[in-house]
Amino acid sequence: MDTQIATRSVQRVVTGMPTSDGAGVRLTRVIGQPQLPDLDPFLMLDEFGTDKPEDYIAGFPDHPHRGFETVTYMLDGRMRHRDNHGNEGVLVPGSVQWMTAGRGLVHSEMPEQQAGRMRGFQLWLNLPARDKMTAPRYQEFGPERIPTAIPAEGVRVKVIAGRVAGIAGPILQPATDPTYLDLALRPGAQFVQSLPPDYAAFVYVFEGSLRIGADPGAKAVRAHELAVLGEGEAIRLTGVSAGEDGETARAILVAGRPLREPVAKYGPFVMNTREELQQAFADFQSGKF
Ligand code: CO
Repeated sequence: MDTQIATRSVQRVVTGMPTSDGAGVRLTRVIGQPQLPDLDPFLMLDEFGTDKPEDYIAGFPDHPHRGFETVTYMLDGRMRHRDNHGNEGVLVPGSVQWMTAGRGLVHSEMPEQQAGRMRGFQLWLNLPARDKMTAPRYQEFGPERIPTAIPAEGVRVKVIAGRVAGIAGPILQPATDPTYLDLALRPGAQFVQSLPPDYAAFVYVFEGSLRIGADPGAKAVRAHELAVLGEGEAIRLTGVSAGEDGETARAILVAGRPLREPVAKYGPFVMNTREELQQAFADFQSGKF
């Protein structure tokens, strides 16, 4: 196989935008900001990471969602989730909550701690028109339910969704067929992941640095940069410099099948048409969520 043809290259590198959301939580918006409004089927990616309680303590009080999925992956800290259908749980370090908002729910996401570090990601993933009004559902997994693959020396992969070296993640979502990997690479270690060539894919580095693509033409990507990948059969990553543990670079690799449908988006509602958005507002205001 000619890796020059098969390997995806970095199309562009995007830096997140500092912002605040909820009741004043400071975070970095990487997808869903002017530089990168969306990356079909991905609507938003927020990174939150701070040791200062004042940056997160206000949390995300009651707010609605309709028409898409929110994926919360905690690295550090604890967050309590509660919705208006009686669902409740605490997200602990290493856990994942894959919430299908479907036709609608109202929930809160509040820190379950007064001090210490809070760190993780929230990704918004679109639903196809046929699934937007589906019943809300949760796929919630503690850290012990997220399998680890060691596909090569110096490479550790937590498989949240998708498949690495024969190890499958627990998340099921046939519409967008997502891959969501938490990667740790020692300097010089190499990881190659095959994916359908037309799937949207990005790598977000959160500690240390990596090279992405095949040489010549591989590109260095540093912590807090997102690489949008072009089409191709495989993604190739090489560890360059280590992050906090002094041993590995850390990144998430996320990919999925584009929906190629019109997107009508306003705040926490993501539908296909303006009329559906207006209906979402009316249904929320009349308590139908
Ligand atoms: Co929410």
